[in-house]
Amino acid sequence: MDGSQNIVGAAHDKVQHDSAVKHVTGKALYIDDMPSLPNTLELVLVTSPHAHATIKSIDASKALAMAGVAAVLTAKDIAGHNDIAPIFEGEPAIADGVVEYVGHPFAVVAADTYDQAFQAAKLVAVDYEELKPVLSIKEAFEKEQFTYTPPSVIKGDPDKALEAAQHRLQGEIACGGQDHFYLEANVALAVPGEDQDMQVYSSTQHPTEVQHGVSHVLGVPSNAVTVEIRRMGGGFGGKESQPTIIAALAAMVASKTGRPAKLRLRRDADMIITGKRHDYEFDYDVGFDDDGRIAGIDIAMYMRSGNVADLSSGVMARSLCHGDNCYFLENARFRGYPCKTNTVSNTAFRGFGGPQGMIVIETILEHIGHHLGKSLDDIRKVNYYGTKDRNVTPYGQTVTDNIIEELADRLMSEIDYEGRKQAIEKFNLENQTLKKGIAAMPIKFGISFNMPALNQAGALVHVYTDGSVHLNHGGTEMGQGLFTKVAQVVATVFQIDIDNIKISSTRTDKVPNTSATAASAGSDLNGMAAYDAADRIKARMTGVAARHFDVAEDEIEFRLNCVYAGNESLSFAELAQMTWEARESLSATGFYQTPDLTWDPITCTGSPFYYFSYGVSISEVVIDTLTGESRTLHTDILQDCGKSLNPRVDYGQIEGAYVQGMGWLTSEELVWNDKGALLTHGPSTYKIPGSRDVPPKFNIHILEDAPNRVPTIFRSKAIGEPPLMLAISVWLALRDAVARCGDGSKRPTLNAPATPEALLNAITEIRA
Ligand code: MTE
Ligand code: HPA
Ligand code: MOS
Repeated sequence: MDGSQNIVGAAHDKVQHDSAVKHVTGKALYIDDMPSLPNTLELVLVTSPHAHATIKSIDASKALAMAGVAAVLTAKDIAGHNDIAPIFEGEPAIADGVVEYVGHPFAVVAADTYDQAFQAAKLVAVDYEELKPVLSIKEAFEKEQFTYTPPSVIKGDPDKALEAAQHRLQGEIACGGQDHFYLEANVALAVPGEDQDMQVYSSTQHPTEVQHGVSHVLGVPSNAVTVEIRRMGGGFGGKESQPTIIAALAAMVASKTGRPAKLRLRRDADMIITGKRHDYEFDYDVGFDDDGRIAGIDIAMYMRSGNVADLSSGVMARSLCHGDNCYFLENARFRGYPCKTNTVSNTAFRGFGGPQGMIVIETILEHIGHHLGKSLDDIRKVNYYGTKDRNVTPYGQTVTDNIIEELADRLMSEIDYEGRKQAIEKFNLENQTLKKGIAAMPIKFGISFNMPALNQAGALVHVYTDGSVHLNHGGTEMGQGLFTKVAQVVATVFQIDIDNIKISSTRTDKVPNTSATAASAGSDLNGMAAYDAADRIKARMTGVAARHFDVAEDEIEFRLNCVYAGNESLSFAELAQMTWEARESLSATGFYQTPDLTWDPITCTGSPFYYFSYGVSISEVVIDTLTGESRTLHTDILQDCGKSLNPRVDYGQIEGAYVQGMGWLTSEELVWNDKGALLTHGPSTYKIPGSRDVPPKFNIHILEDAPNRVPTIFRSKAIGEPPLMLAISVWLALRDAVARCGDGSKRPTLNAPATPEALLNAITEIRA
């Protein structure tokens, strides 16, 4: 079945985000907007000023003596287990005895008001014994300090291929981290109930994991804990694992005091206390022929994991599985080093290691091009995945749906890329101060969680006797439009207008044992589960209608908010009432598991992705060689969305992801001092892109007539993360512009982010 042009809000319709008006008028409710319950405690975390220290003693007496202060709790007050690790074990919710980064929480102050708690937190006296911190990636690597066993992907015989290659190059590159900078900082409200029950409102992408974390910390079974979230004010991966800490601490206070407890981080506390995108350093060794075709490659990926593993193993797996990007590598070794440092634990961030994997391979291709006197685009051409002999990834998955070369060629010819390159060359000859650059970026992004077990979802649908529908599923809404898309699916199954469908909060007691809404797979998974639930109800309603009209079931048709048998019809609501009278259930759960996935995390082999999403961008930039400032002037994007579930939402996702990626690569720089304290913990020092950084010429095209080749929900493709990596064209174009400042003999020394300072240094160096 497919969408219909006749109902409002069918699959593929450009309906607006269900909360669009509420978002812009302030009517959308977030957790901190909920009316306060009587006796609610406000919480503030007490955090470490040292990157590494033992806590010898804590004296909370002065804090406790302050008016309004109800409690100061530490790890000693945890009734259950102090462990909220998402993958491995041994990651405490709150530091116990040892603090491992500047900002590591070790106590919670609870007071009647936020200000009271904030002031009291300053009075908690602590006796520390400082330990030597490990602050850099390389120092941790040299000391062999890792958060888990370093993994690698190996294919063929890279050493032999490197030795035999016509040409061989070595190099290094690094990319910075990124703060999520969601509009809504982390927040949780825990409300104690009778017995051991705990109701937790948590701004989380992963309600089930919050439920588990709260249950461990309180020492109560999962069935005592209910987690609810209507929407987040942005997540971007930052709310995939770490909200568990916030919620567990709120629940600990609520359980101890018997009062509702709310923990809402201030912006700077959120930036200091919670993890970010992993910054990486890379070394590479590549062998290739005269055409630039890669014969053998060895890449070392040094990741800043932070103080604990958190999701680092998943992130690293994705880096290892995206170090190929769109290119066939016959002999490859990708080595991952998850370095344990005394800095905050890094975590998921849109792209989840993919962007880092791609940036290194693109740098390598550019290096090869420079060496051979060819363009980056020429080198890509000879290395793209092909058919038959050239379609197996380093981790062993066969790429069967590859369209990247067609996609790139098409966009290049549509925008006259070669003509634009010439115009830029002319501009650069005529201008000394301003220099332009241009670059393309093709991407292939694997869709599915790297861990097969996570690729499942559930849904719960009720039809009421007035024909209105209640929709619930395991996915969470963070602005990406998931709830709208899933409602479109249900509208399409029943052929009723989307307005008849009530979109409800995500709750662990409605749909249990869910995965995080992540890996861009939200609509693929929950859309299918909701389809399944709605379809079960529809089958029962069809039976009732067939008996009513006295026709065969296959003569019943749901159309235009009605149900037809030939020329006779009932409204959907009349049939719902009739189904109730017939004592058939109007409620169903639905379930989905993605087929055909395999992954061995030890050997790093398998087919972890159900399919790939493809996209290509071309960005033109200009730099001011006197100040190092840059602008992205013109961007064209061609993105594969399969048969888009909602082109309007997808367009917004492409635009937002690209601009967020631009921020990562140009202006968002995380700076720590030599004691390991984050200096960039607010908007005054940490620069995210603003509306004026959006390219003035920004042409986004969604690939038409491109249904997914595998049966996803209405043949759509995931869109949430892939376009972030399209912004790598901005970074490559900046490198191109810097290269054009010199005589062509040198390559730019430029890592990401390409801040004005970094650009200025690179220009000075290339001109020296
Ligand atoms: N879009 C908005 N507006 N806000 C967000 O927090 N998160 C991104 C992406 N798009 C995000 C967003 C990330 S990291 C992911 S994994 C996907 O949305 C998750 O949602 P989906 O699977 O429904 O696409
Ligand atoms: N993306 C996001 N979150 C995840 C993934 C992934 O690929 N794997 C495990 N958690
Ligand atoms: Mo997205 S980083 O998978 O939450």
